[in-house]
Amino acid sequence: MYNKITPQILDELKQISGAENVLYDDESIKLHSEDETEDLSFPPEVVVKPSSAEEISKILRLANDHMIPVTPRGGGTGLSGGALAVHGGICLSMVRMNRIIEIDEKNFQAVVQPGVITQVFQEEVEKLGLFYPPDPASRGSCHLGGNLAECSGGPRAVKYGVTKDYVLGIEAVLPTGEIINAGGRVLKNVTGYNLTQLIIGSEGTLAVITKIIFRLIPLPAHKKVILAAFGSLENATDAVAKIFQKGITPSAIEFMEQAAVKAAEERQGKKFPNSEAEAQLFIEVDGNYPEQLDRDIEQIAGVVEEFNPLDMVLAEDEQKVQDVWTLRRGIGEAVKSISPYKEEDTVVPRANMTKLVRGVKEISAKYGITTICYGHSGDGNIHVNILKDKLDDVTWEKNIDAAIKEIFELTVTLDGMISGEHGIGYSQKAYLPIAIKEAELELMRKIKKTFDPKYILNPGKIF
Ligand code: LAC
Ligand code: ZN
Repeated sequence: MYNKITPQILDELKQISGAENVLYDDESIKLHSEDETEDLSFPPEVVVKPSSAEEISKILRLANDHMIPVTPRGGGTGLSGGALAVHGGICLSMVRMNRIIEIDEKNFQAVVQPGVITQVFQEEVEKLGLFYPPDPASRGSCHLGGNLAECSGGPRAVKYGVTKDYVLGIEAVLPTGEIINAGGRVLKNVTGYNLTQLIIGSEGTLAVITKIIFRLIPLPAHKKVILAAFGSLENATDAVAKIFQKGITPSAIEFMEQAAVKAAEERQGKKFPNSEAEAQLFIEVDGNYPEQLDRDIEQIAGVVEEFNPLDMVLAEDEQKVQDVWTLRRGIGEAVKSISPYKEEDTVVPRANMTKLVRGVKEISAKYGITTICYGHSGDGNIHVNILKDKLDDVTWEKNIDAAIKEIFELTVTLDGMISGEHGIGYSQKAYLPIAIKEAELELMRKIKKTFDPKYILNPGKIF
């Protein structure tokens, strides 16, 4: 159904973006055939690195005319295969569109290109006392454009919300080549349909984002962190909802089971406090007044006491806090280095989390699989890594699909969703009907068709 890239198309791409930005040598193709999703590999036929919306418009028009698939790509850190060129064609790398165009201190806004690395942006705004809270674990290499495509979350979402909550507007290019603007530099806006929020989280299937207008907030001056160790997974997950019921919203409340902590320790060669405990909560509070934070920590400690903690450690100095965060951010990579795996991104209302984690462990036992759970427990967002570990190939192949289905069915029964922040992309699309009914799926397909009548933009994803 799609056409291959011909020498003539290559010439046209070179005319649009410059020969040095049109790559098809083996190394470039290999580099762009993978992201962080399992061991999936789909080589594009060519990698193009445009520098403007106008170039992207020309590239998309060309691709649309010739029925060539185009897969947009940010930092390549995605966890559901969103940036994989599953039908070949053009990989549209946004690396050159990496300018912070403006930071508007008076209005607490910023305008950026999509290829800016998330951490670079965070650090630039923080220099001015401003704060961009969305904080995916891959922030050191992921792109803001990719964050919008997947609506990334991360630990601080529990207090501050996810990527979509900070986007006021975008410029984007439609698969048919039109450059559109959605939203704007205003905090309130009911001027027509909210196309900004439709495109955010659409995983690069509706339009290519070329400019982003962000909302920022003041940077909180202080943080405090408490680590609580528990003798059972249930004690840890049960404590979470109770903390919120005390009227406190931590800026992060991360859950880690022992195997997750151990994997990070091993990979990073560092010690985590209480790493022998079955489960831990890593709870951070932030604000402008240290006395208030002390009171919050006291209250949190009081709640934790009700759930038989093995230990509680207050990480007061900045270095210790940073060390614990580094270990936590490294868990995903560490767990996945153990063996072949499947990574799930379940999310339930936080008070249902204990049932989710318990159910996951029952399903693991039933199918003889190993699961390691960790994640953003304040959001009820538990990453379930299913490891092949010592399982033989036949049993793994036979059981994995049934086990995933059961985990997702349980998630939905608990009023949850099958992805909180990693997206459906390529790796989860077979499971989407577990969470979304046919009538809604049909509506989504129609939206896709309206934006992309020839189905050239990031095909093979979501549906
Ligand atoms: C994390 C990524 C995997 O929370 O979402 O570490
Ligand atoms: Zn996460």
